[in-house]
Amino acid sequence: MSPLDRPLRLVAVLGSVQSSSNTARVVDVVREYLQERDNVIFDVIDPTGLDLRLPGLGSTADARSIQATIKEADGVILTTPEYHGSYSSTIKLIIDNLGFPSALKGKPVALLGVAGGRIGAIKALEHLRSVASHVGSIVLPGPVSVANVRTAFDEDGVLSDAELKGQIQSVADRLIDFINDHIYPAIALEALVRGKMVPEDLLP
Ligand SMILES: Cc1cc2nc3c(=O)[nH]c(=O)nc-3n(C[C@H](O)[C@H](O)[C@H](O)COP(=O)(O)O)c2cc1C
Repeated sequence: MSPLDRPLRLVAVLGSVQSSSNTARVVDVVREYLQERDNVIFDVIDPTGLDLRLPGLGSTADARSIQATIKEADGVILTTPEYHGSYSSTIKLIIDNLGFPSALKGKPVALLGVAGGRIGAIKALEHLRSVASHVGSIVLPGPVSVANVRTAFDEDGVLSDAELKGQIQSVADRLIDFINDHIYPAIALEALVRGKMVPEDLLP
């Protein structure tokens, strides 16, 4: 349990609306991994079917809803396919609908990219890091890039490469470790200063 007496909340933001999206398959690897933990609630913001407008065309109920989901999260995984040497317009549209200042401000953020090519989603992740950092996220080092993603999953959608699976799972592990090591001690310390009771094992 966290010092907030509730499970940790992680949210992955899916940066693709492609049917049979490979980015969604990679997010599912994280989802399955976190299902084994009873102290983590994992949600996915899937933009498919959401009413998200281009900047300047007004806010929507869906935009306010995803802002609330991000604000309630302890950590966020931003995911994107590499499209034309950068992140997807889908992930940018979602970020542009997260408010100004952004709901991502101050949030620990891990990055996960997929690419059809053998070089991987390097450019997409670098560009996404820049944007996430610009809006005030605490962007964790070590983004994970899945190269050759079209051949990574078999026809049943199974990822058999154990090393790659471990790399994808490590995105969640590193986000959880960061929150435990850097966010929760600060919350516990603040509670202590304000005279609230804090379980001993959570004290820094
Ligand atoms: C518009 C578009 C542009 C793409 N550009 C690149 C690219 O620059 N580099 C690359 O490695 N793959 C590129 N791809 C391949 C995608 O990375 C690959 O199809 C991936 O599975 C997309 O993820 P998704 O299925 O979740 O949308 C591109 C695909 C599309 C549709």
